Amino acid sequence: MERTLIILKPDCVHRRLIGRIVQRFEDKGLIIAGMKLMQITKELAGRHYAPHEGKPFYPGLIEYITSGPVVVLALAGPNAIAVSRKLMGKTFGYEAEPGTIRGDFGMSKTYNLVHGSDSPESAETEISLYFTKGELLEYAPVTDTWTNKPGEK
Ligand code: RTP
Ligand code: MG
Repeated sequence: MERTLIILKPDCVHRRLIGRIVQRFEDKGLIIAGMKLMQITKELAGRHYAPHEGKPFYPGLIEYITSGPVVVLALAGPNAIAVSRKLMGKTFGYEAEPGTIRGDFGMSKTYNLVHGSDSPESAETEISLYFTKGELLEYAPVTDTWTNKPGEK
């Protein structure tokens, strides 16, 4: 099953939206394999956002992601990466479709509430930045009998 790394960014935590946004991922049927509240250091932020280094928005992005607590989640499910990014919506709040997380909760380019991995390679790299093996659990929620057909690709 595919995994992705989701971060509920500092604006999400400060705005008390953790519950409502985690609910959307749960409602869709993604499995929470790992979850914790933490503060991202400048060093960790630099590793996470290394692909964006040098871009004009990079300094502001590092400042923002390290500015307060975040919730990091490892989510699992069929096509977890694409499904999560659909739930999140387009990067900038003012462009994101209503019904998506970014479309429903914000207007900003930077303060866009959530991060989601963009490829299987970045997902596995990002998960290993935030979680040890022992912090990740594999299980099949009992309710999945009727939401995820066993053996279905
Ligand atoms: P994310 O990595 O956070 O899931 O977002 P994304 O894939 O939709 O967007 P990406 O291109 O990877 O950009 C990473 C984050 O940088 C901030 N950003 N600001 N001001 C700007 O022009 C600008 N462009 C990007 C956003 O916070 C975006 O989530
Ligand atoms: Mg990205």
